[in-house]
Amino acid sequence: MQQTETIFETQFEEEVYIGLTDFPKHLSSKYFYDKRGDKLFQDIMDMPEYYLTDVEFEIFETYKQQIAALFVSGNDKFNLIELGAGDGKKTKVLLKHLVEQKISFTYQPIDISQNVLDQLEASLQDELPQVSVQTRQGTYFEALERINSDNGAKKIILFLGSNIGNLLHPQAIAFLQSVRESMQEDDLFFVGFDQKKHPQTILDAYNDPTGITEAFNKNILVRLNKELDGNFDLDQFLHWEVYNPETGTAKSYLVSQKQQTVVLNKLELRIDFKPWETIHTEISQKYDDATVAWLAAQSGLKVSHWFSDQGNLYKNYVFTKD
Ligand code: AVI
Repeated sequence: MQQTETIFETQFEEEVYIGLTDFPKHLSSKYFYDKRGDKLFQDIMDMPEYYLTDVEFEIFETYKQQIAALFVSGNDKFNLIELGAGDGKKTKVLLKHLVEQKISFTYQPIDISQNVLDQLEASLQDELPQVSVQTRQGTYFEALERINSDNGAKKIILFLGSNIGNLLHPQAIAFLQSVRESMQEDDLFFVGFDQKKHPQTILDAYNDPTGITEAFNKNILVRLNKELDGNFDLDQFLHWEVYNPETGTAKSYLVSQKQQTVVLNKLELRIDFKPWETIHTEISQKYDDATVAWLAAQSGLKVSHWFSDQGNLYKNYVFTKD
């Protein structure tokens, strides 16, 4: 192994260094999301091929009454905490319903991107000014630590958009366990899981003909060029998506189209690529009931309810502490 004197200023620098000197190479999908990445992901959610947003929206529209009834117990105020809130498109359906029913609650969206939180707060102020909003910026794990130290009202924790699918099973279990740690007996954890389905539907969702997903995947290279003084030539990398129907795992790659050397000056790093060498950038796991039940059991949670869209493409599960 090569010894290095490189001192990293941020976790981003360290993880990029480790990922690009590893074999096979990898980068974490959490680094897709700067201002441009946030916008590209919004565009993905508006694409007809990216069914996930529409079907979760459908579930909220169809079952908002039943979902709200689960969340409310008596007249007690509750905290609605959303991990990875994004633009809150689906949550707003529920927020609107709760406001109309005069149910008292505080909405606490948490996201890694301050930019996304600012936009969400402004849009809520505009569309649903009655909602009491407290935003928090941070990673899920940081957020959970802070939730842990909050006492009092019943917690409903939302984790939508199949964001859980961006975690490998061991990471997902660690994450579910730490949510469980922060839960009291009555608290609920409401999670969206994209389901296994026709493999072509999944490939199309992650490989649109207009190239938005390609631009999103390559945005990580744009960030490396900008933030680490790099010289990745984006045209020399292919966006490539694979889906394994046996495991339910969709994986995104960037594939080097030729032998090339890329430099990241800030890290004093030269990265050699062989022709067709890959950088693995994202996993988007798809699930079935058995896998969700297994994840819950591994994490000390149990499924109390679930809601599905008409086409059974997607499910929201409600977990309680086991
Ligand atoms: C945020 N996450 C759940 C998305 C997904 O489906 O894995 C990110 C995404 N990647 C490509 N398209 C969308």
